[in-house]
Amino acid sequence: MGSLKKVEEQDLKVSTEPILYVNGVRRVLPDGLAHLTLLEYLRGFDSSQGDFSKYGYVWLFIDTIDFTSKSQFDNFTLTLRLDHIGLTGTKLGCGEGGCGACTVMVSHYDRKLRKCSHYAINACLAPLYSVEGMHVITVEGLGSCKRGLHPVQESLARAHGSQCGFCTPGFVMSMYALLRSSQTPPSEEQIEECLAGNLCRCTGYRPILDAFRVFAKTSNDLYTGGSSLNLEEGKSVCPSTGKPCSCNLNNVNDKYVGDDNRYEPTSYNEIDGTKYAEKELIFPPELLLRIPTSLNLTGAGGLMWYRPLTLQHVLDIKAKYADAKLIVGNSEVGIEMRLKRISYRVLISVMHVPELNVLNANDDGIEIGAAVRLSDLLNYFKKVATERAAHETVSCKAFIEQLKWFAGTQIRNVASVGGNICTASPISDLNPLWIAARAKFRIIDVKGNSRTVLAENFFRPGYRKVDLASGEILLSIFLPWNRTFEFVKEFKQSHRRDDDIAIVNAGIRVYLQEHSENWVVADASIFYGGVAPYSLGATKTKEFLIGKIWDRDLLQNALRVLQKDILLKEDAPGGMVEFRKSLTLSFFFKFFLWVSHLMDGIKESIPLSHLSAVHSDHRPPITGSQDYEIMKRGTSVGSPEVHLSARLQVTGEAEYADDTPMPPNSLHAALVLSRKPHARIIRIDNSEAISSPGFVSLFLAKDVPGDNKIGAVVADEDLFAVDYVTCVGQVIGIVVADTHENAKIAARKVHVEYEDLPAILSIQDAIKARSFHSNTEKCLSKGDVDHCFQSGQCDQIIEGEVQMGGQEHFYLEPQSSLIWTVDGGNEVHMISSTQAPQKHQKYVSHVLGLPMSKVVCKTKRIGGGFGGKETRSAFIAAAASVPSYLLNRPVKITLDRDVDMMITGQRHSFLGKYKVGFTNDGRVLALDLEIYNNGGNSLDLSLAILERAMFHSDNVYEIPNMRVMGKVCFTNFPSHTAFRGFGGPQGMLIAENWIQRIAVELKMSPEKIREINFQGEGSILHYGQKVQYSTLAPLWDELKLSCNFAKAREEVDQFNGHNRWRKRGIAMVPNKFGISFTTKLMNQAGALVQVYTDGTVLVTHGGVEMGQGLHTKVAQIAASAFNIPLSSVFISDTSTDKVPNASPTAASASSDMYGAAVLDACEQIMARMEPIASRHNFTSFAELVRACYAERIDLSAHGFYITPDIGFDWTTAKGKPFRYFTYGAAFAEVEIDTLTGDFHTRVANIVLDLGYSLNPAIDVGQIEGAFMQGLGWVALEELKWGDGAHKWISPGCLYTCGPGTYKIPSINDVPFKFNVSLLKGHPNVKAIHSSKAVGEPPFFLASSVLFAIKDAIIAARAEMGCNDWFPLDSPATPERIRVACLDELSSSLVNSDFHPKLSV
Ligand SMILES: Cc1cc2nc3c(=O)[nH]c(=O)nc-3n(C[C@H](O)[C@H](O)[C@H](O)COP(=O)(O)OP(=O)(O)OC[C@H]3O[C@@H](n4cnc5c(N)ncnc54)[C@H](O)[C@@H]3O)c2cc1C
Ligand code: FES
Ligand code: FES
Repeated sequence: MGSLKKVEEQDLKVSTEPILYVNGVRRVLPDGLAHLTLLEYLRGFDSSQGDFSKYGYVWLFIDTIDFTSKSQFDNFTLTLRLDHIGLTGTKLGCGEGGCGACTVMVSHYDRKLRKCSHYAINACLAPLYSVEGMHVITVEGLGSCKRGLHPVQESLARAHGSQCGFCTPGFVMSMYALLRSSQTPPSEEQIEECLAGNLCRCTGYRPILDAFRVFAKTSNDLYTGGSSLNLEEGKSVCPSTGKPCSCNLNNVNDKYVGDDNRYEPTSYNEIDGTKYAEKELIFPPELLLRIPTSLNLTGAGGLMWYRPLTLQHVLDIKAKYADAKLIVGNSEVGIEMRLKRISYRVLISVMHVPELNVLNANDDGIEIGAAVRLSDLLNYFKKVATERAAHETVSCKAFIEQLKWFAGTQIRNVASVGGNICTASPISDLNPLWIAARAKFRIIDVKGNSRTVLAENFFRPGYRKVDLASGEILLSIFLPWNRTFEFVKEFKQSHRRDDDIAIVNAGIRVYLQEHSENWVVADASIFYGGVAPYSLGATKTKEFLIGKIWDRDLLQNALRVLQKDILLKEDAPGGMVEFRKSLTLSFFFKFFLWVSHLMDGIKESIPLSHLSAVHSDHRPPITGSQDYEIMKRGTSVGSPEVHLSARLQVTGEAEYADDTPMPPNSLHAALVLSRKPHARIIRIDNSEAISSPGFVSLFLAKDVPGDNKIGAVVADEDLFAVDYVTCVGQVIGIVVADTHENAKIAARKVHVEYEDLPAILSIQDAIKARSFHSNTEKCLSKGDVDHCFQSGQCDQIIEGEVQMGGQEHFYLEPQSSLIWTVDGGNEVHMISSTQAPQKHQKYVSHVLGLPMSKVVCKTKRIGGGFGGKETRSAFIAAAASVPSYLLNRPVKITLDRDVDMMITGQRHSFLGKYKVGFTNDGRVLALDLEIYNNGGNSLDLSLAILERAMFHSDNVYEIPNMRVMGKVCFTNFPSHTAFRGFGGPQGMLIAENWIQRIAVELKMSPEKIREINFQGEGSILHYGQKVQYSTLAPLWDELKLSCNFAKAREEVDQFNGHNRWRKRGIAMVPNKFGISFTTKLMNQAGALVQVYTDGTVLVTHGGVEMGQGLHTKVAQIAASAFNIPLSSVFISDTSTDKVPNASPTAASASSDMYGAAVLDACEQIMARMEPIASRHNFTSFAELVRACYAERIDLSAHGFYITPDIGFDWTTAKGKPFRYFTYGAAFAEVEIDTLTGDFHTRVANIVLDLGYSLNPAIDVGQIEGAFMQGLGWVALEELKWGDGAHKWISPGCLYTCGPGTYKIPSINDVPFKFNVSLLKGHPNVKAIHSSKAVGEPPFFLASSVLFAIKDAIIAARAEMGCNDWFPLDSPATPERIRVACLDELSSSLVNSDFHPKLSV
């Protein structure tokens, strides 16, 4: 080992002290930190806990290394470099392993295998000491803008894969870990799979996949620009799109190397041009040489952390501490300790104990150590499945399938088999399978005695009860090989396919033997998760099956027995009782067909159309097209420029509010929150809180120096509750302490005594109690509705209701503000994550009693807002300003994800009651509509949201007689608020519901009804505005052509005819979205443009960059105005001391307004420069600027814009609320599994009219992101509140308050084909550079997915002869889909118009 010698020669110190390498930097891990997660350590350790850099000496590793080769150390140099922790590139999105924002890569050397493994983990759940002796690489360890970007970063930035950027480092690290761990280039499928644990709320995922797809091995030609593609001259394959193009990215940065056919895109340092590959971090040599030692460390609160290295040591510790918790991945214990606040005294990390990590196959089966990680188990099963006889590994294959849908990659990389078994969760995905597969568990006690127990007997009735005494641990699992004609299958249905816990899962097995030419059930096992507090066996069904002949009679009778075997009470925790019951039947039915199909040829055949019940999903790689024309105006406008912060975001250098270093003397704040929906406050007791560690102070309403009354439109909220609380989560007070954790602990110790009062917990309750916010009854009308109904003109009149649930914003960056005082406490400054810095300034000045001129709010960028940070961020900053001001100390407040979701409000749920009259040929004559939104406990923006819903309740349809009445309901929920679309989507969804119903009544297609009723040019809308420059017709025609609607209909009908249990559906939906704030005064915008003598330009405007690319578009406008390159324009941040009185960044109109304001400022400066410019022929802009400077020309200008020609008068209910409309239309095709309600979107085609786009790449990103967010709203995301519909949740509480229970779309939900097209040749005469606003309009287009689902359900119901109209609430979750698909199994559980419960 000559190379090792070289290392020794370098005097490499191989120590036994606990160490960790972070990005090549050696760090000694001091004792006392067992309570910290890796994420806490990485992000903020040295600022809050002291600087431990003195312990570290540092390596910078150069060149890659082959760990298995003899020359492993031949090629590197060592350099001493100092680094510091405070690596804020790794983000905290949820703290519960559910979003992937905290993904880092861990490298670990396995001494036994002499191999280094690299894998992605969630740093938020990894205990710090669990990575002792390992190398952690964070996003900062890859590349930086100064050093050059790593190819993964480069590719993501260029492919427009980063919008707000908060999720971006997590995606980069997941992809990086996949590449580092792959011996050969990964497949596209592997890439999609590895991203399942990463959520993005902005992009819609398609560009992320496109960016990473270049690393997949598909066709070599694709990367070499090889001959078979016959590329035109000057064109190569674009790494962004994977298609031939002339962007020349390949030529500059991508390289195909070597004879191993491996594609290695490289990127170059912007400064010195060196290749990135030369900077790849290698595995630290010290860690290769180091022999791991056992650890015995401590943490806060007396926590003890052990890391034994032998089984005996584990047993010894367990003998000493009977209550000691074994941990491996910490994915259960971490959640228990952090979210459920359970405290454990002794933790034993057993991940390095060899006896617990065995994986051996022998003649009887496989022995699996309890600490084996799920990803290792998966790989091992895959291996044996290829090595052993097929019939032996039937169980292994069931596990392989089940593990595919088990959590995300990061969790599977750490979570253990034993951890899952011993948690004994009632929804464990694996436990029903272990039981079904006849697995046995080996248990050992502290004295070394072992025993074996059948999996079936290990799980005991009761919540998390297992056959494990306190002195025992699970040693291993034995999985027997299967016998011939033994069949085992897994089942799982969850809200979302990827990374979601099950609603119901199952493991089912039968063993068939031949008797007298019949196949008879010799043995069986049917176990379900999600139907009881433990994995429940269908014992009567099993008894029934044994000895019976496997035929159709058996199926019918078994289903009857099963229905009585698995019982669920009506109020069972988790709800969805009918759905869960139906799933138990569906799974058995599928199992029967699957086994019968496998026995095909031996016994009777299954009809071909029924095979649709057993075919497993095959998801093709996602493809998509983005079709637009580039209408370049000047140097930059119209060009598909990359988001200006993209490079900072992919490297983790982009800073967000919570990344701001804490100034000295800082405090952390946590809120004291109401636990009651409506109550009188009797007493607030802080006695326990004040003795809590690190506690500094508690502030209540009486302490507020200014006015405690706040509100976005009317002051109807208390900053801190006074006497009464009106929702769970209302702020009662604020605690400040030395750390975030201590502040939270102390806040929980403030005890509030309440007297309960009756609460209103739904729109229906509010209507019944006439509980409305004052002055919120509104009416819009046109024609004479009553006369039309009475006159007999209508051939048919129908009435109905539409209800739709709310939606959580789920911006990846939680609400956060850092506030400090200046000049002895006479000025207040803050950095906030908000869409409305001005609102923060106003609220803070109001509650502190300071003039606004002494309060400054700055926002550099935010990690997503979507309306959730328009008003509902301001009260949080205002609350934190009180302690900051009164104590004269900096205070930071960052909400935990669950608190954020619980208290900051959501998209409004709506109820619409319609009466619509129409002719037999489908023409709508009259509409009478009442709409209600659930405003929550304060008005906030609810009235404006209701009004927009009323404006949009015609969608694009000509309705000669129309009346819309609206009311905002007061309920005892947190105040609901703005969310992309601002009520527009809810109004349009009501319209599309009655359109769809008319179609069913008339037996016509909804698309036909839509076309018949389209508004035309010059139509007068129900609020008086005239339709002008409508592009609806060309857009609809283009869409119809692009999706070939008639052919699609034919194909879908054909598919449905051939498949009994899977149905496809299609729909085409149009929309028009009004652009402008409907409150006239908000349509004003300011900007400040400063030109410097080097020719660069600094722009500041009132809008906030939240991922939507506003700064990029505005900078493009400035660049074109001055005729300079985009790189010469910079936008630093948004600040209330630069541009005053800005409206929130909302209503899609920011590019229009701030673009125009900036243009105004640029034109002023250009006008001042003009006399100088005309005198000389300047060779550059910088030269011209210097000449102007010499002539004392003012090179700074304030620009201003007001949207002209708008205004609405509510006294007459007529006017022109919108400057113009953005039109769009979408086609969707879906496929549903009628037995489980599972669905996927096969195709989505979108056409949108954006005039001449300012930046088509950014606009496409907005469209895709909005569509995916809309898809979440209509089909996935369900908020469950403690209300009449969900009695198992405490009244007024939000159950779905984290990514574990609330499912936003993940990568698996992206349509297989996702095509976006911008309408060509229609410049918009009403906005800057002929462009149109984009942020909100495409959101509603995702309703095409909802109506395609409904279309598919119609086909399913038709099989039962049921052709009547039926309600389908939004979101159309698997529950709603399944129970609407009537069939022989579900008809005994639900009737034809059954409505699953929904919080509205
Ligand atoms: C985001 C996320 C997604 C998830 N998704 C799924 C999912 O899809 N399906 C699913 O089933 N689960 C899921 N889980 C739950 C969890 O990941 C699994 O249960 C996992 O297998 C637990 O393993 P662990 O090593 O992390 O357990 P740990 O948290 O380390 O330990 C869990 C429990 O097991 C005990 N334990 C561990 N080993 C032993 C032993 N040898 N002897 C005795 N006791 C032992 C521990 O003391 C502890 O009580 C998810 C969790 C998270 C956070
Ligand atoms: S922050 Fe770790 S997964 Fe969300
Ligand atoms: S870019 Fe992914 S969450 Fe914003």
